[in-house]
Amino acid sequence: MDEKRVLQMAEEMDRLILPYFPKEEGMQKKLFESMNYSFEAGGKRIRPLMMQESYKLLGGDENEIDILNPFFAAIEMVHTYSLIHDDLPAVDNDDYRRGKATNHKVFGETTAIFAGDAMLNYAFETMLEATVKEMDPVWKTKKIEAMNVLAKKAGGYGMLAGQMVDYLCEDKPDVKLEEILFIHEKKTAALIQAPLVMGAIFAGASREKIARMEQVGYLVGVSFQIQDDILDCIGNADKLGKKTGSDAKNDKATYVTIKGLKEAKEDQIRMSKEAEGMLSSMHEGQSELVGLVDYLISREY
Ligand code: IPE
Ligand code: IPE
Ligand code: MG
Ligand code: MG
Ligand code: MG
Repeated sequence: MDEKRVLQMAEEMDRLILPYFPKEEGMQKKLFESMNYSFEAGGKRIRPLMMQESYKLLGGDENEIDILNPFFAAIEMVHTYSLIHDDLPAVDNDDYRRGKATNHKVFGETTAIFAGDAMLNYAFETMLEATVKEMDPVWKTKKIEAMNVLAKKAGGYGMLAGQMVDYLCEDKPDVKLEEILFIHEKKTAALIQAPLVMGAIFAGASREKIARMEQVGYLVGVSFQIQDDILDCIGNADKLGKKTGSDAKNDKATYVTIKGLKEAKEDQIRMSKEAEGMLSSMHEGQSELVGLVDYLISREY
C-alpha cells in the first residue's frame, strides 16, 4: 500500500472519529481546546484503521461496521493522550508533534497533564456510553470484552509498563536487548494489539483467531517501534512532524543503539513479513490490513 492510500484512509477515519470529540464550551473550555488541539493535529490513525481492517479481515459484517465508530475514536484518544504525556518535560521533553508545537508548549504543562488525563477518561466515557445503551446482547458482550482489552493494554501491565521501563532504562548502563523488547512490546505493541484484538472480537472471531491477532499485533508493534527508533536517527523531521534525535538527547538505549541500523532494519522487516504471512493465512484474497502492515515497513512518517 502506498502513502497516498494510507493518507486517504486516515482522512476517511477522521470523518468517523472527529464527531466524538468534546465541544469547546463551559468554564473548563480550555481543557477541551487543549484535548482537541492534539487530536485534530492529525496523525496516521493507524490504530483505528487496524481495528477496522481486522474486523473486515475476520469476516465482520460490513453493514454493521458503524457500531465500531466510538471504539475507533476511543483507541485514538488513548493513543493521543499517551503522546501528550510522552512529550511532557518530565518524560521526553519534546517540542513538536504531528507537525505542530506540543500540547504543553501551547497550553502549558498543567493543562497538558489534565488534557491527557481527561482524554484517557473520555475514551472510556465514549465506549461506555455506546455499551450502556446497546440493546443487542451479543454486541453488548462484544463491547464489554473490547473495553476490557483496551483497559488492560493501556494500563500498568501494558503501555504504561513500557513507558515506565523506558524511563528507568534512561540512566541504566548496558541496557539489554530483552529489556528493549519488553519496552517495545509494552509501550508500543500493546496499543497495536488492542485494536487488532478488538476488531477480531467485534467480528465474532474464534478464541484461536483472536489469539493470533494478538501475536500479529506483537510483531507489528515491535516492528513499528523499531522503525520509530530508526526514523529518530535518520528520518526527516519535516516529514515526521516531530523532531529527530529525541532518543539521543535523552540518552535512550533503543533497538538501533543496541543492534545497529542495519540489523535493526533486517529484524524489523523480518517481523513485519512474519505478521503479513500470519494475516494472509487467516484470509483468502487481498486484505487492506496486509497492505497497511507492509506500508509501515518503509514509512517515513
Ligand atoms: C507515535 O505513534 C508513538 C509511538 C508509539 C512510536 P504514531 O507514529 O502512530 O503517531 P501518530 O499517531 O501518527 O502521530
Ligand atoms: C512512545 O515512544 C510510545 C508511547 C507510549 C507514546 P517514543 O517516545 O519513542 O515515541 P515518539 O518518538 O515520541 O513518538
Ligand atoms: Mg517516549
Ligand atoms: Mg517520545
Ligand atoms: Mg520515538
